[in-house]
Amino acid sequence: MAKVAVVEGDGIGHEVVPVAREILAAVRPDFEFFDVEVGYGLWERTGSACGEETIADLQSADAILFGAVTTPPDPGYRSVLLQIRHALDLYANVRPIQGEGVDIVIVRENTEGLYSGIEWTEPDRACTVRVVSRRGSERIARYACTLAGSRRHLTIGNKANVLKSDCLFVEVCTAEAARMGVPCRARYIDALCLDLLMHPDLYDVVVTTNMFGDILSDAAAYLVGGLGLLPSANIGKRAALFEPVHGSAPDIAGQNIANPVAAIRSAAMLLSHLGDPASAAAVEEAVHRVLRAGIRTRDLGGVAGTREFGAAVLREVGQRKA
Ligand code: NAD
Ligand code: IPM
Ligand code: MN
Repeated sequence: MAKVAVVEGDGIGHEVVPVAREILAAVRPDFEFFDVEVGYGLWERTGSACGEETIADLQSADAILFGAVTTPPDPGYRSVLLQIRHALDLYANVRPIQGEGVDIVIVRENTEGLYSGIEWTEPDRACTVRVVSRRGSERIARYACTLAGSRRHLTIGNKANVLKSDCLFVEVCTAEAARMGVPCRARYIDALCLDLLMHPDLYDVVVTTNMFGDILSDAAAYLVGGLGLLPSANIGKRAALFEPVHGSAPDIAGQNIANPVAAIRSAAMLLSHLGDPASAAAVEEAVHRVLRAGIRTRDLGGVAGTREFGAAVLREVGQRKA
C-alpha cells in the first residue's frame, strides 16, 4: 500500500489539492494519505516555513502530492519548495505540455543552476552563483535522453554563447545524446522561447537548466490554454513530488475559481510513477471528457467552480470504474 504525503501549501493550493486528492483516493482507495504543512502561512504563524521533521516526513512517503507555496521576494526568506527539492535531491523537473497539436516535455535540471542557493547580499550589490556541475548535467541529460529515446528527439535549451556554465551543460548533454543514439540539437534559450510558441511541432523533449526551464514552462503554457492546465513531476532517486506548474495565485485564492486541472494531472503523473498507468490514463481521460462537455473554470472561459469541476471529474472516474 502506497503512502502519499499531501502538501496543500498556500493560496489556491488549499483549493486544488483537496480536489486532486479526492480523485486519487477514488481511483486508489488503498492509498494511505497523510498531511504535511509547509509554506508562508506556516511561517507567518510559527516563524518557520518548513519544520525540522518535515523533510523526514516527506522522505517517508512513496510520493508527494504538492499544491503551491507563496514565496515573498524577501532576502531573508528561502523558498520552501527549493529547500525540499534540494533536501530530497529531486533533480529532474518534468513538465509535459500536451494539447491539440502540441506534445512537448520540458526536462528541467532542478537542483542547481541559478537556484543553487549560493548567494549573498553586500551593501551595494547582491550575487547569485549559477552552478552547473558535470555530475548534475550528466544525470539530467541521461534522464532527458532516456525519455527522448522513446519519443523523437532532444533540444538543449542554453545560452552557451555568453555563459561558460552552459558550455559545460551543452557539452555534457550532446555527449550523452550521442552515446544514447538520440537525435539532438542545441538552441539558444531566447530564440527557443519564441520558436517553441510559433512552431511547437518542431519540439519534442527540451532539456535545460533550472531557471530557463522555469521560465520556458510558464511561457509554453500559452500553447495549451494557460497555467491552470500544466502538471509536473519532480523526480529523484528515492523520492518524487508532483505539483502544478503554477504558483499559489494569491490574486484568485479563496474564491473557488482556480482551475484544478494542473493539480489533477499532477495526481495522474503520481499514479504513473507508482506503477499504475491505467488509473493515470483513466484520470486524464476523465479530465478530457469533462472539458469536452464544456464544463470549465473561469480561466478557460467557463463558469464552473473549482469544486464543481472536481466533482464532475469524480463522476466521470466513478462511471468508468463502474
Ligand atoms: P502564479 O502561477 O501563482 O499565478 C500567475 C497567474 O496565473 C495569476 O494571474 C493566477 O491567477 C493565474 N493562475 C495560476 N494558477 C491558476 C489556476 N490553477 N487557475 C486559474 N488561474 C491560475 O504565479 P505568480 O503570481 O507569479 O506567483 C504567486 C506566488 O506563487 C508567489 O509567491 C510565487 O513565489 C509563488 N509560486 C509558487 C510556485 C510553486 O509553489 N510551485 C510556483 C510559482 C510561483
Ligand atoms: C516553479 C516555481 C518555483 C521555481 C519557485 C516557487 C521556487 O516557479 O516550480 O516553477 O522557481 O522553481
Ligand atoms: Mn515557475
